[in-house]
Amino acid sequence: MRLEPFADLLSEAIGLDPAALGERGLSRAVTAAMSRAGTADPGAYLRLLSASPQAKGDLIREAVVPETWFFRDREPFWLLRERLRTLKRRGTTPRLLSAPCATGEEAYSLAITCLEAGLPPGGFHLTAVDVSPESLAVAARGRYGRNSFREDMPEADRHFIRQGDDERTAVWAVRPEVAATVDFLQANIVSERFLCNEKPFDIIFSRNFLIYLNKEARKRLMANIGRLLAPDGILFVGHSEILSFLSEGYQAVRHPRAFACCRETARPHVPAAPPRPESAAPAAPGVTRTRTPPRAARPSPSGIPACGQRAPDHAPPRSPADVSTAPAASRTPGRAGGENPLEMARRLADHGELAEAAAVCRRCLEADRHNAEAYFLLGLVGAAEHRVQEARALFQKALYLEPGHAACLTHLALIHEQLGDAARADIYRQRLRRLSETGGTRP
Ligand SMILES: C[S@@+](CC[C@H](N)C(=O)[O-])C[C@H]1O[C@@H](n2cnc3c(N)ncnc32)[C@H](O)[C@@H]1O
Repeated sequence: MRLEPFADLLSEAIGLDPAALGERGLSRAVTAAMSRAGTADPGAYLRLLSASPQAKGDLIREAVVPETWFFRDREPFWLLRERLRTLKRRGTTPRLLSAPCATGEEAYSLAITCLEAGLPPGGFHLTAVDVSPESLAVAARGRYGRNSFREDMPEADRHFIRQGDDERTAVWAVRPEVAATVDFLQANIVSERFLCNEKPFDIIFSRNFLIYLNKEARKRLMANIGRLLAPDGILFVGHSEILSFLSEGYQAVRHPRAFACCRETARPHVPAAPPRPESAAPAAPGVTRTRTPPRAARPSPSGIPACGQRAPDHAPPRSPADVSTAPAASRTPGRAGGENPLEMARRLADHGELAEAAAVCRRCLEADRHNAEAYFLLGLVGAAEHRVQEARALFQKALYLEPGHAACLTHLALIHEQLGDAARADIYRQRLRRLSETGGTRP
């Protein structure tokens, strides 16, 4: 079956980059959507696609799986809660956008965070957008199975009504007063007129979307976000997407694992990492998870670090002086105080302690100059500090030592895209695709 017409159609409809799926992924999506439409004839199916918006929607859903869950990655929502409290103190009625929202879990997580931050149901505006009417219909129903609950969710009992006794089949309905706070909207986020009459948003969540887009659509997404984000607004993106924004006039909000950024000129009040719930409350409904009990927040020196400053986390990282670097750290994990030096470097980097993380990596490299992971982490530090060429060289070294390093390939593709070298970016994407098709990716 010739896949080009389907790739073109998806590219035109939603800005999809077929390379993001790979040939196998695209073929799987088209085959599944054809079987759903009850046809095995690609020609007839193409005709159906041009006549039926529903058939097109089905294909889009197969291509960009609306994979999502409540409080996905958790950390962004702690940062959000503190930001909301700040806005509340200022007397601002926050405006939030979840785009794309898929089946609604992200949007309801935002709503719940607003309510938990002490905002009344009418005290914030929340818009949630997706291109798929089917996903939006699920969102509007607001009933979810256990697969939508994969994170600790101590606040769940306050915002859901459980229906059914059997854990496996029970559903959790979003309480009507929570559901009423979200405006679901069908729209194409990469269209030029996307939300063209809306006022700016204080908070935008646009996660796990840019990675699917072709170059043109990425540009439109960036332009739309640039237009819709308030001057001191905060943008939350996926972890493999933040690098793309950092070279486009945004700077990272240094809250570990929140993957948030703001305009380089902005200095919004982003408070210190917030206190988390004191007790390890029941995990997500129907899901038992064990997690390290939360620690209390440390006050920041200034009380309120701004964007680009570090928001202290709960476990102050040890200084590099505490670290004894064992030889060949990533291949023969050397333990220092029970922690592999590279794990420590990663943790330091996660906490925004970039100089310290780099120092640990360099010590690892002094002990073993073939340590791919140390080069990779140094590359991440370089990228986070906008030293793009240096980061590129470090990622290339890591990749030379470990050709199957998927994260390196991803970062190199993004860096070359930012440098305007689309051909080289493509080469890295193709390598990444081949790697995932042969199951050779490493985390
Ligand atoms: C992986 S989900 C991301 C959901 C959520 N943001 C998250 O991170 O959990 C991707 C969603 O993008 C939607 N989508 C794809 N192209 C779109 C477009 N051009 N405009 C609006 N939504 C789009 C898909 O329908 C799908 O629901």
